[in-house]
Amino acid sequence: MSQFSKDLIAWYQLNKRSFPWREQINVYHTWICEVMSQQTTLAVVLPRFKEFINELPDLHSLANCSDEKLRKLWVGLGYYARARNLRNGAQYILQNFDNKFPSCKDEWLKVPGCGPYTASIISSICFNEPVACVDGNVVRVVSRILGMNKDVWEKIGQEKISCYVNECIPKNYPGCFNQAMMDLGATVCKKQNPICQECPIQKYCYSFKNNIVSLCPPNKPR
Ligand code: ADE
Repeated sequence: MSQFSKDLIAWYQLNKRSFPWREQINVYHTWICEVMSQQTTLAVVLPRFKEFINELPDLHSLANCSDEKLRKLWVGLGYYARARNLRNGAQYILQNFDNKFPSCKDEWLKVPGCGPYTASIISSICFNEPVACVDGNVVRVVSRILGMNKDVWEKIGQEKISCYVNECIPKNYPGCFNQAMMDLGATVCKKQNPICQECPIQKYCYSFKNNIVSLCPPNKPR
């Protein structure tokens, strides 16, 4: 593992945010929380996640949930299609995967409503598959490490960012690595007022060394 990845993971072990779905690795919980948190902030997700899991603790209860109940459990989260997709996904898994969860990215991609990001994050956290997960936080962190003050939002920039993450991701701790990048982006390498003095990977950061953190990444074109 590179020293960069070691430093990042050591920081994560000490500073990771505590969430109910991080207490122990559970595929169902990871799937639900990752879908919920895609277009919704974690502060809103937290209470909704707990209620959802209390009411629908497993694949069977989700697959058989009524429309009315599903709608009630999704109040405040927005994009209700995601909830219907989860239920479709649960039915699909029960029918096609013999009551077991898919256990790699390619299998997750077959689940209705599950795109590359969701498939990657679940597979890296729950099945130790070394696949990169690039969300908005990760784009910001990597664009600063590499000092990318242009092209970030073009195809070429996005490819450069995924290539970088795929190269760094350690084979033995892919889930920790992906979540460490997200936590770093959320708590230290923030969009406004990043706390570079506390950054565990400051010494690898081109934009810090060259004083261009505020230029990386450039604003996203609308
Ligand atoms: N945001 C959404 N999923 C996350 C995760 N697993 N870790 C950190 N931030 C997240």
